[in-house]
Amino acid sequence: MAGRFPASWVDELYARADIVQLVSTYLPLKKKGHNYWGLCPFHNEKTPSFSVNPDLNVFYCFGCQAGGNIAQFVMDMERLNYPEALAFLAKQTNLPIPASLETPEDPAVQSQKERLYQANEAAARYYHDILWKPQGAKILSYLRSRDLDDAAIRKFGLGAGSQEWEGLSTHLESLGFSREEMRLAGLIAVKDNHHYDMFRDRVMFPILNVYGKVLGFGGRAMGDAQPKYLNTADTPIFNKRYGVYAANLLRNQRNLQRIILVEGYMDVISLMARGVQGVVATLGTALTQEQARFLKRFAPEIWLAYDGDDAGQLAIERAIDVFNQEMIPVKVLQFPEGMDPDDMIRKQGIDAFTKLKPISPYLFGMRRVEKRLDLSEQEGRTEYAKTCSALLSSVGDPVELDLFLKELAVKSGFDKDVLLAQMNVAGSRVQKVRRQQDEKMSKRKPAHVSQAEGTAAEQALISLLASGYLPENFLKADDFLSPAFCDIAQKMLEGQSPSAIMANLENDSLRSLAGKLFIRENSDDRETALAAAEECLSTLRQQRIGRELDLLRKSMEKQDAEEKQESLREYMRLSSQLSKMSRSSADRKEV
Ligand code: CTP
Ligand code: MN
Repeated sequence: MAGRFPASWVDELYARADIVQLVSTYLPLKKKGHNYWGLCPFHNEKTPSFSVNPDLNVFYCFGCQAGGNIAQFVMDMERLNYPEALAFLAKQTNLPIPASLETPEDPAVQSQKERLYQANEAAARYYHDILWKPQGAKILSYLRSRDLDDAAIRKFGLGAGSQEWEGLSTHLESLGFSREEMRLAGLIAVKDNHHYDMFRDRVMFPILNVYGKVLGFGGRAMGDAQPKYLNTADTPIFNKRYGVYAANLLRNQRNLQRIILVEGYMDVISLMARGVQGVVATLGTALTQEQARFLKRFAPEIWLAYDGDDAGQLAIERAIDVFNQEMIPVKVLQFPEGMDPDDMIRKQGIDAFTKLKPISPYLFGMRRVEKRLDLSEQEGRTEYAKTCSALLSSVGDPVELDLFLKELAVKSGFDKDVLLAQMNVAGSRVQKVRRQQDEKMSKRKPAHVSQAEGTAAEQALISLLASGYLPENFLKADDFLSPAFCDIAQKMLEGQSPSAIMANLENDSLRSLAGKLFIRENSDDRETALAAAEECLSTLRQQRIGRELDLLRKSMEKQDAEEKQESLREYMRLSSQLSKMSRSSADRKEV
């Protein structure tokens, strides 16, 4: 992605942008030592652990390990992707966007999409305006009957589909949109040279993306007309797999501790209108991997608040699987049979709603099992014990496990020890499958991931290299042992700035680590820095020799006499080199 902007332009941008100045527009910073410190905007804290290095233009939080360069900060803060963050910074620093970027690769496609967004936007306005006209009276009073006030209606841009067959299309035509554009946006249907508005006599819910662009609509029928909800089919700008209802509101809700995921548009509106924050819904389809990944950007955990009917409960099971696959923490809010979140909050009020305690997915699973069995019979209790033991064998937290086991023991009538034993039987099967999966995963992972942390000497050396005190040719990239560090060092030696390097690190934990190293305070004194770097380098060389010795020892096991002779000579040479090195570094320490 970064490739889209010319490198020289990005360099210019980074040179102009001042991270201290930018961060200060979001939070107060105080200088302490070399760096600036403040309360981290990415997690809740009372003492500052968020630090900014003004020379390297990078930040790092010692509390939550968020870290990166100035563009990363904009990405995290403004929820933008990399090119968007660069554009944001360009605006702030008055750097014109390169002309080549203003005309995208395929102008025809791009401008067609832009036209469809505009048509949708105009349609949303049209529907919304109708709501306040006599034509929209019926739909407005329907919304009122569902306890929505004007503020909520405006916040979500709700509207009314006209009762006429060509109300919207006539309007859009007057604004210069073509039939083809309306058809592509899914706003009209065309049949044998006839065309008519897709949404008529429906409550209109515009679906906006995170940047506020109208992607499509959901339209709820009045009365019992079918289908109850009509949604825009997939179009060049709308794909239900990716979209999330109310995504546009997420950007402005900072520091959310959880996102509440509901089934229906009405649930989102009803909860948010009553003051619940961070509520979103999928678009009438089951949760997708893409949506889960998208939601992860906005909060550390997701609470599933689906309808209290069978369909809702089944959908929760599926959604839990999706979140588990993405390793996103998830909990479940449960509602009385037959109620959805909207029903519940309207009947019992916001206080009752906020008092609801989310339960762990394990407990939810146990309750699902309980529902389909008859626990008054021994047979039912046995199956309950067995099924739940298997379920619980993947609980990681011992305290949590104990809690679940207690409940299981009470309900199944089996002793906790018996259940534990059963769990181990079931667990070893589960674990075997999991181990196999892990093995598959680890084969896929590039080798450097496991070594990403590097050794202490590597970490110190990278940090010293970033300080700019080391003379040219002091070290080479392959003085580092871990491939990730070799890579970072290589880039620094080529003259890339720490900030630019971090911009290109796509692995989150590696970027976080780099942030920590770049922010480290090194001695202000060149001599001391140099001595420290020499020490690290020597440690690394010793470690490298140590590794070579290990390898030699291993290969000697399989060698014939002649090869062994050869290896032994090499072994001796390396070990004497190693002992010389460790002696001289011990001497240095004594001095
Ligand atoms: N849905 C859909 N098509 C349908 C029915 C439902 O796309 N024919 C989607 C809609 O996104 C809807 C969600 O599934 O919001 C949940 O459906 P439901 O519970 O029936 O709707 P509610 O949002 O509860 O609507 P209402 O309260 O108006 O009945
Ligand atoms: Mn519902």
